[in-house]
Amino acid sequence: MANNLVVVVTGSNRGVGKGIVELLAKQKLERPLTIYATSRSGENANIKASSPNEIRYQKLDTKDSASIQSFFNIALKEQTALDVLINNAAVSNDYRETPDYAAETVQTNYGGTRDMCKAFLAQPNLKPGSRIVNVTSGYNLLKTYGQDIQNRFRAVTEISDLDAMADDYLKVVKLGQEAQQEAGWGSGARSYKVSKALNNAVTILLAKQHPEVLINSCCPGWTDTAMGNQAQGGTPPKTPQEGARVPVRLAIGDLGPKGDEDGALGHDTEKISGHFFENVNIMAPGWGKAKLWLDL
Ligand SMILES: NC(=O)c1ccc[n+]([C@@H]2O[C@H](COP(=O)([O-])OP(=O)(O)OC[C@H]3O[C@@H](n4cnc5c(N)ncnc54)[C@H](OP(=O)(O)O)[C@@H]3O)[C@@H](O)[C@H]2O)c1
Repeated sequence: MANNLVVVVTGSNRGVGKGIVELLAKQKLERPLTIYATSRSGENANIKASSPNEIRYQKLDTKDSASIQSFFNIALKEQTALDVLINNAAVSNDYRETPDYAAETVQTNYGGTRDMCKAFLAQPNLKPGSRIVNVTSGYNLLKTYGQDIQNRFRAVTEISDLDAMADDYLKVVKLGQEAQQEAGWGSGARSYKVSKALNNAVTILLAKQHPEVLINSCCPGWTDTAMGNQAQGGTPPKTPQEGARVPVRLAIGDLGPKGDEDGALGHDTEKISGHFFENVNIMAPGWGKAKLWLDL
């Protein structure tokens, strides 16, 4: 299809990722959507798409650079360019945190997102106005880190600065809780939060480095998924399709205030990039509002 908008979703076999594909697939927009619903298995989830939208199921393990390369090779043989990337795939090992699980969390969530962004931005026919959506979390305010770590987040100018922060964090986790706290990373299991803070920071950095692309991050809110049910304090109030609203708005909606009420999917957008979108609280089912993570 010549005029189709090509959207890639990672970790789409269950949870918020599946909700994102379902919400995208039922849209009836001027431009038909071609949705790459990717997952580690590549399984066909039989999600219904409104014609002429189509869903293509592909294998993609975001922690494996060969798998990322193979996915882009396949997709770019089928399409001239990929228009939107939604980095949704993630793990949380907070309930069983050890140095090894912390490394798995940071490598999957931060490393996978970083590598997918790099591959997307390196496309030979990358179009101005393409978008990246990094699904992060509202539970990782910058002010929860010590002053030194906050300063490092503010001073980032290269991806290697963030890689060095990830390495330093994982070194300190091996030394134990006291060292982790003294270094300013906070107390208790922090790898999930740190990985998402790194993703908010990589969003801001890449938005500066690629002004022609709209790159934002967001929190889906507290959603009824395997990960959402790890949290204490009751049942997550949002369905996966409600959790999908903010990411889908950032993918195909209006990024300016016009999109705050209902996403304004398929409409022209203000060129907002490097922002973090969330609702008034994690229970609210809305379409999100832009904030600056470095101010939070
Ligand atoms: N649920 C919430 O309340 C909540 C709140 C804030 C933020 N979030 C964020 O929302 C996103 C989706 O979370 P969720 O609640 O849907 O989690 P989930 O139910 O645990 O699903 C996670 C998804 O990520 C995939 N995944 C994990 N590692 C992967 C890898 N290496 N390569 C490809 N896919 C991988 C999983 O695939 P497998 O089936 O193969 O494991 C699964 O599809 C995450 O970024 C999460 O941090 C969720």
